[in-house]
Amino acid sequence: MTDTRTAITIRRPDDWHVHLRDGAMLEAVARFTARQFARAIVMPNLSPPVTSAASAAAYRDRIIAALPEGTDFTPLMTCYLTDDADAEDIASGHTAGIFTAAKLYPANATTNSAHGVTDVAHIMPVLERMQAIGMPLLVHGEVTDGNIDIFDREAVFIDRILGPLIRDLPDLKIVFEHITTKQAVQFVDSAGPNIAATITPHHLHINRNAMFTGGIRPHAYCLPVAKRELHRLALRKAATSGSARYFLGTDSAPHEIHAKESACGCAGIFNAPYALESYAAVFEEEGALDRLEGFASVHGPEFYGLPLNDTMVSLERRDNPVPDDIESAGSTLVPFHAGSALNWQIVQS
Ligand code: DOR
Ligand code: ZN
Repeated sequence: MTDTRTAITIRRPDDWHVHLRDGAMLEAVARFTARQFARAIVMPNLSPPVTSAASAAAYRDRIIAALPEGTDFTPLMTCYLTDDADAEDIASGHTAGIFTAAKLYPANATTNSAHGVTDVAHIMPVLERMQAIGMPLLVHGEVTDGNIDIFDREAVFIDRILGPLIRDLPDLKIVFEHITTKQAVQFVDSAGPNIAATITPHHLHINRNAMFTGGIRPHAYCLPVAKRELHRLALRKAATSGSARYFLGTDSAPHEIHAKESACGCAGIFNAPYALESYAAVFEEEGALDRLEGFASVHGPEFYGLPLNDTMVSLERRDNPVPDDIESAGSTLVPFHAGSALNWQIVQS
């Protein structure tokens, strides 16, 4: 049945996976996330990466300083795990409220992951400690083996790394980030309540054809790459199912236009400016607008053991054209949905 509502009001959402960058790019993009979300889990893949509680606290201050005075936005910081990760610093940083979680990047899986983990065996003491204190592990779930087809890297990661990991550490809280496959959905559905997943707007909207429509489309390129249509459909079903194990994580990953439109274009889709509207379109198409609030505003905080936001946000049904590009603080960025239109718009309070 067609949804005829002209407005919806939900608890203010959070973004459980975002790249806010640093320096000029941070100045350019932070406001978009803060306008849409109350809190965000901020990825630590800066150069150099955020590997200590001290560097995370300093980065958190830079994020807050990049926002207009009085902005109601809380950055939730993460620790970038390396082979030399220090269990003591990570655990005490978590207890002190600096680190909300720690991020596992397999070495060389994606942007600024060269310092990532070469073998999970190297960080077992850290993971054991995290399990003991209830600190979530956030996982970029792709193997990096050049013999594995890029479209299979997530599914192989489940078999080789994630499956064994949850057998070894059955109580570790894990967020399988930006899932892209039906295998990931099956994995999460069949795992215990300590395993959850984020789903991006772009993986709900595009399949792998989007990278090649009439030519090569760098703005549809991200990691993990979009997969076949059957996977997109599985993700849409999971996100809109009402299951508390799936929640919003945009993976908004801005790169300057010239770094995307290049002979070696960077991976990442900048979706922060229209993120909630983009998710709303999917939930409406799936006849599940009633479940948007759970996905966007409830399942995430419940998984992380954080309070729900107590303010609300409204979306109105109206034509919401997305510009071809956005100029912000000296950067030019191409947003997801550039040149098309969404049919919901956040009403600014
Ligand atoms: O597309 C992506 N971009 N995937 C990632 O995992 C990293 C991100 C980035 O930082 O640009
Ligand atoms: Zn990411």
